[in-house]
Amino acid sequence: MLHIVDNPLIAVKLNYMRDEKTNSKDFRTLLDEISSLMTLEVFKDLKAVPTGEKIKTPTGSEVDKLKLNYNIIVVPILRAGIGMSNGVINMLPTAKIGHIGMYRDEKTLTPVEYFCKLPKVENPLVLVCDPMLATGGSAIDAVTMIKKRGYTNIRLLNLVGAPEGVKKVEEAHPDVDIYIAALDERLNDVGYILPGLGDAGDRIFGTL
Ligand code: PRP
Ligand code: URA
Repeated sequence: MLHIVDNPLIAVKLNYMRDEKTNSKDFRTLLDEISSLMTLEVFKDLKAVPTGEKIKTPTGSEVDKLKLNYNIIVVPILRAGIGMSNGVINMLPTAKIGHIGMYRDEKTLTPVEYFCKLPKVENPLVLVCDPMLATGGSAIDAVTMIKKRGYTNIRLLNLVGAPEGVKKVEEAHPDVDIYIAALDERLNDVGYILPGLGDAGDRIFGTL
């Protein structure tokens, strides 16, 4: 299921990211902030449950120590996903972090995998992050890699999506909820999202 996170604070920050004049440092900061804001939406259905332990407050009172009802694993798709994962993790101090290494072959537009390392936890909920969902190939392959390793509860966090790519991910993995800040118009003939924001990895890391 697709969730478009509709929030004016996010919309204005994303609009600034789209501007070709926005430099790498501002681009990274905005992506970090949007990722934190989106994390609140992605996990708003989770529950804070008692751990069985108590904590004491400075007034001498005792209250239940709480935890989330899932153990969150945040998995950025290298490279550009790294630009989102810090903002997500800042909201989730107990989250574990995995990594998937993958890049799009510029001619065929198909993803090439080069790395996968995922933490083992009980009762996991995996959040895959990548700012761009273009043809959908990278997201589909990343989720497939994660499922092959036994994880079943998976969500996808993107900044900008193309309708074509979103449709493909929904068809390939109907069990995965997709959260994006904007559903853009379409892909151009070289697989870039329009209007989009250009090459997210290059803008984050200054490799233009
Ligand atoms: C970009 C982006 C996604 C992928 C999206 O990564 O960060 O991973 O393309 O395209 P798709 O939906 O058509 O698969 P890229 O391959 O440019 O690698 P990078 O993160 O190293 O820049
Ligand atoms: N990857 C990007 O970084 N940007 C796009 O528009 C498409 C894929």
